[in-house]
Amino acid sequence: MNLVFLGKQGVGKGTYAQRYSKSEDIPHLSMGDLLRAEIKTDSELGKQIAEIINAGNLVPDEMALQMLEKRLQQSDCEKGFILDGFPRNLNQANLLEKSLDRLGKKIDCVIDFFASEKTLMERLGGRWQCKKCAKIYHTTNLPSKVEGKCDLDGADLYQRADDKPDAIQKRFAIYEEQTKPLIDYYKEKGLLLDMNADRTPEVVLKDLSKKLQEKKKQLQ
Ligand code: AP5
Ligand code: MG
Repeated sequence: MNLVFLGKQGVGKGTYAQRYSKSEDIPHLSMGDLLRAEIKTDSELGKQIAEIINAGNLVPDEMALQMLEKRLQQSDCEKGFILDGFPRNLNQANLLEKSLDRLGKKIDCVIDFFASEKTLMERLGGRWQCKKCAKIYHTTNLPSKVEGKCDLDGADLYQRADDKPDAIQKRFAIYEEQTKPLIDYYKEKGLLLDMNADRTPEVVLKDLSKKLQEKKKQLQ
């Protein structure tokens, strides 16, 4: 299935996508991880991206789309994919639709994960991520076995530059203004599935798998 994961910053999109992509053997395309990978290369483009992201702003729509489209053309996306962090506004939703049309693909389901703002702040405040493989941890909710090291590859964990209070407020404001309208947009298209993410990752994943299994049957 071709899926889009929507939801406010810190709700757990990346966490659920990393796990669900493994269980379903479909790739997890995280727009944020693609952009952070470009920053790591130290290219001119990467430097521009870092400045935008670290302040909590969105990179230009066309730039994000170009990076995503390149990734969508890879052969592993043929069996399905999870889009995490794209689209983030109505213009991107239109660009995505056109891009998928060109590639002969379409979105099957959009999952809107929601949780209280208090939960989101706690999750963002305790998040750590692997520098090498981008696996996501949380100091108390989902700690690594060895403090500061990734369970999978032993690489160092880091805290994201955009998880500082000013950048978080900016990201929340952009979500309210630009991303939230996508909920109604996809609801009207009959593609939306609501998912309460104010529960443990295990419970969310179980519910998500069950609902998407039902959806898959409807599509067959
Ligand atoms: P991106 O990296 O996508 O960040 P985001 O949207 O701000 O979302 P987050 O990654 O912060 O939250 P998440 O929902 O993935 O939560 P996570 O799973 O980590 O984008 C970063 C930036 O890139 C943007 O601000 C923008 O600048 C740019 N960008 C990206 N896409 C773009 C686009 N389309 N156009 C333009 N610019 C774009 O979980 C958070 C924490 O909570 C973790 O510590 C986790 O362990 C914990 N946790 C998760 N679920 C649970 C649970 N159920 N119970 C307990 N703890 C949990
Ligand atoms: Mg994420």
